[in-house]
Amino acid sequence: MLTSSGDASQAPDRSESEETPVRRAVCPGSFDPITNGHLDIIARASKLYDSVYVAVMINNSKRGLFSVDERIDLIHEVTAAFGNVRVEAFHGLLVDFCKDRDIPAIVKGLRAVSDFDYELQMAQMNNGLTGVETLFVPTNPTYSFLSSSLVKEVATWGGDVSHLVPEPVRRALATRLAKP
Ligand code: PNS
Repeated sequence: MLTSSGDASQAPDRSESEETPVRRAVCPGSFDPITNGHLDIIARASKLYDSVYVAVMINNSKRGLFSVDERIDLIHEVTAAFGNVRVEAFHGLLVDFCKDRDIPAIVKGLRAVSDFDYELQMAQMNNGLTGVETLFVPTNPTYSFLSSSLVKEVATWGGDVSHLVPEPVRRALATRLAKP
C-alpha cells in the first residue's frame, strides 16, 4: 500500500500513485435483517478498506422474514453514511462473487469460540478454492450474543429490540410483525 510521506524522495511519482490499487473487501451474510452487530463489522471494514461490498446471500430453499430486496434496501439505508459501502445480492459461491469483482478479502465477525469452528472451515475451503483470504474481526462484546434469528424471535413476541438493530430495521420489523 502506498502512503503519503513528507520526504520527497520517498513520495510515489505520478504514474505510481495512479496505479495505487483499490483495496476491496466483502462482508457476506444473510442479513435477515441486518443487526447492530453486522453494522459494527461493516463500519470497521469500511475504515480498513477503500471499498466494502456487502454481499447478501440469496437462499432459494429458505424463506426469510424479509425479501432479499428488502434486506438490501435496509442495508443501503443504514450504511449510506460510510460512503464506501455497496450492497449486492449473490447466488452461488462467495469465491465467485469475489473473483468477479477482484475482491481479495472476506471480512467476518467472530462473536464467540462457537463461531470459530465453522468459520475456520469456510475460510480454509474458500482459500483453497481461489486463494481468497478471510479476516476475522472480534465482535464488539456488546453484540456477542446477537443474531438476526434472536432479534426476530424477540420482536415476534413484542420484545424491545431498539438497542439491537438500527432504527429503520426496528421500524421494518414492527411493520412486518404487526398483528392484523
Ligand atoms: O449470515 P450467514 O447466514 O451466517 O452467512 C453465511 C454465508 C452467506 C456467509 C455463507 O453461507 C456463504 O458464504 N454462502 C455462500 C455459498 C458458499 O460459498 N459456500 C461455500 C462456503 S465454504
